[in-house]
Amino acid sequence: MSIGIVGGGIIGLSIAFELVERGRTDITVYDRDPTQGAGLVAAGMLAPTAEAGFGEEVLQDLMSESMRRWPSFAERVEARTGTPIAYRTDGTLLVALTADDQAEVDRLIGFYHRAGRPIEPLSGRALRELEPLLAPRVRGGARAPGDHQVDPRRLLRALRMLPVRFEARDVVDLSTLQDDVIIVANGIGAAALTGLPVRPVKGQLLRLRGAEPLLRHVVRGIAAGRDVYLVPRADGELIVGATEEERGADRTVTAGGLLDLLRPAADLLPGVAELVLSETLAGLRPSTPDNAPVIDRLESPPVIVAAGHHRNGVLLAPATAAAVAETVIDGATNIDITAFRAGRFT
Ligand code: GLY
Repeated sequence: MSIGIVGGGIIGLSIAFELVERGRTDITVYDRDPTQGAGLVAAGMLAPTAEAGFGEEVLQDLMSESMRRWPSFAERVEARTGTPIAYRTDGTLLVALTADDQAEVDRLIGFYHRAGRPIEPLSGRALRELEPLLAPRVRGGARAPGDHQVDPRRLLRALRMLPVRFEARDVVDLSTLQDDVIIVANGIGAAALTGLPVRPVKGQLLRLRGAEPLLRHVVRGIAAGRDVYLVPRADGELIVGATEEERGADRTVTAGGLLDLLRPAADLLPGVAELVLSETLAGLRPSTPDNAPVIDRLESPPVIVAAGHHRNGVLLAPATAAAVAETVIDGATNIDITAFRAGRFT
C-alpha cells in the first residue's frame, strides 16, 4: 500500500514517523518548500497547562493525551534517526509583574486547578530562587511541572532523516496523486485541498542569543497586561514570542509587533536587553473556528486529514500521528478523536 502525505512539516513528518515505526515502507511526502511551515517558527513549548484555554476542555484532553506520549515519542525519534531533539522536562513558570498581572495569574491558577492540571502557586521570592535573573519587582506566579519543551528545528531535522521519499512539489489537485492512501497535513494549505475552514493566524517572534542561558524554565509572563513567553535553549538561545494577529497570510515582521514582545520580556527579565538579536520571524498558525484540529477521514475528497493545530502543533504531534497511523493501518484508532471530526464545521 503506497501512502502519500501532503505536507512536510511537524504534523506530516510525525505521521510519516509513526507509519515507519509500524513497518510501512512505501511513503512519499509532498512539500514544495518545507521552510514555509509553522514548525520552523514554533518555539516548541509542550504546554498542556500554560496553553490550556477557557472553554477548550475537549482540546485539553487531547493535549494531555499527547503530552503523555511525548517522552516515548522523543526517545523513539532520537533512537530511529540518531538525532537529538533537545526534549526538556524543566516545567513552565507563570510569572506576573504587577498586582493586576498577579490577579490574572491567580485566575489562571484557579482554572488550571479545575481542569485537573498540576500547578503550584509561587511567591516572587520563590520564583527568583528558581530563576535568579527575573526582575526583583516580579510579584509572584506559579509552576506548571507537567509542561515540557522541545526544539522544533531539531525535531524537523531528525524527521527529515526518515526513510521516506521527499518530493518537492506543490499539490494543488489531489487527483494528480497516485498513492493508495492520501493524508492531507499541510496546515493552512489544507483549506484549498479540502474546503475545511483552516486559516492563518500570524505570530511574530524573536530569537536572541547570549553566551549562557538566562533561564532554565520556559516562562509564560504577564507584564503590565502584556503577554509574552520566553523559551530558553541550553546553547544560550532565548526565544521570545509571540503575537497573535488576524492578518491573513501576511508574514511581515513589524516594529510594533517586536516592541509588544520586547517590552514585557525586558520588564520580566532585564538581561534580555544585553542579548544579541539573531533572528526575527513571523509564522502562520493553521487555526480553525474552535482552535482545535481536524483529524478525520473524509469522503470527499477521499483523504485522511490532520490539520488546524493552531497554537499546539508540536504538542499535539504524537497523538495526531498515532491516531492517523492507526487509522491508516487498522481502519480505526483507540485515541478519542470524535471531537475533531470535520463535520463539526458543516
Ligand atoms: N504555542 C505558542 C504559540 O503558538 O505561539
